[in-house]
Amino acid sequence: MRGDAVDQAVDRAAGRPKVVLGVSGGIAAYKACELLRRLTESGHDVRVVPTASALHFVGAATWSALSGHPVSAEVWSEVHEVPHVRIGQHADLVVVAPATADMLAKAAHGLADDLLTNTLLTARCPVVFAPAMHTEMWEHPATQENVATLRRRGAVVIEPAVGRLTGVDTGKGRLPDPDEIFEICRRVLARGVRAPDLAGRHVVVSAGGTREPLDPVRYLGNRSSGKQGYALARTAAARGARVTLLEANTGLPDPAGVDVVHVGTAVQLREAVLKAAADADAVVMAAAVADFRPATYAEGKIKKKDGVEAPALTLVRNPDILAEISAERARPGQVIVGFAAETDDVLANGRDKLRRKGCDLLVVNEVGERKTFGSEENEAVVLSADGGETTVPHGPKEALADTVWDLVTPRLF
Ligand SMILES: Cc1cc2nc3c(=O)[nH]c(=O)nc-3n(C[C@H](O)[C@H](O)[C@H](O)COP(=O)(O)O)c2cc1C
Repeated sequence: MRGDAVDQAVDRAAGRPKVVLGVSGGIAAYKACELLRRLTESGHDVRVVPTASALHFVGAATWSALSGHPVSAEVWSEVHEVPHVRIGQHADLVVVAPATADMLAKAAHGLADDLLTNTLLTARCPVVFAPAMHTEMWEHPATQENVATLRRRGAVVIEPAVGRLTGVDTGKGRLPDPDEIFEICRRVLARGVRAPDLAGRHVVVSAGGTREPLDPVRYLGNRSSGKQGYALARTAAARGARVTLLEANTGLPDPAGVDVVHVGTAVQLREAVLKAAADADAVVMAAAVADFRPATYAEGKIKKKDGVEAPALTLVRNPDILAEISAERARPGQVIVGFAAETDDVLANGRDKLRRKGCDLLVVNEVGERKTFGSEENEAVVLSADGGETTVPHGPKEALADTVWDLVTPRLF
């Protein structure tokens, strides 16, 4: 018979999104406490399911006290409630953080030798894995194949961050910041039971603005903040894609779960785009690429001299990356999206640009010193090569990003 306290807990949990937090046996298990706190404080009912190895790092008492639920690693506790089936069946989201190499292998192969692996097999909700391990383990072909299998089946596998690992080592394999894992969970939950429609896809997003150096201290740049490109990268990751973000001069921290390549100039961005696009299903060019660069670069700072006129600036054209990748697609059926920042005759100029560039979709927005650039919000019209026109009303840049992916996914090969 249930006691009052249990009944009250059940009442409180009713109506709240049910999250299973799987914790496997990596040194980063302690960071999952912070993720648990973010989830519970934002109104989620969280059931923690650690593995036996995870309990070497953080004990059951901690998970139980922080979540308000009993905690077990194996299927033999409270057997009358059939937890090996029920926990997964009732979940709205399962997130495994950290996910060990071992856990990814078990999940990819459908093993079910403890409560977490059973839960992964019975869950019908979205599943997010946040792997954390040494770089060698992450890069091993076995792990990479397991990750590819999980992504193909629709799981969201967040790319590990680069940084300090256990001991003295640094490299790729670090668990992303719990806040960032929380943000991805929030986005995945907001999309509900819809399958992550970019699962198994590789998408490339450019963000920011190129800078064209004039001398060691000066450059020609633009006002693009990169926030729209970052929103595109984050939303794509939450929809299951492997994301390569080509970042130009944003000053923003690397978003969790995506591969980031830092570039400075248009020429560097072109190289990075061509490399990343080779196996990409879609390329979204949200970065503001300088049309021109100074014809010469002064090795020393250009000085003003008394009685001498200001030097004339000669510019040369930069490569037109959007037109180039649209004309010569790296893969058949690759979807290319451009952005047009216009200050006047916005739609007419956008249609004209779409024709000239040859991309599939063009996101047209009006920009100005205080409009769009640097803002958290945006509004735009997305033009498509087949004549379609989708108006995205004023709202968060994430909403525009999701509309872009909504338009990209049906066009994917
Ligand atoms: C100190 C220590 C740290 C470890 N850190 C990790 C790690 O970060 N990632 C990982 O994949 N394995 C790590 N391992 C190895 C796993 O604990 C081991 O593969 C274990 O079998 C995983 O079990 P589980 O997947 O059931 O949790 C670590 C082991 C030890 C002793």
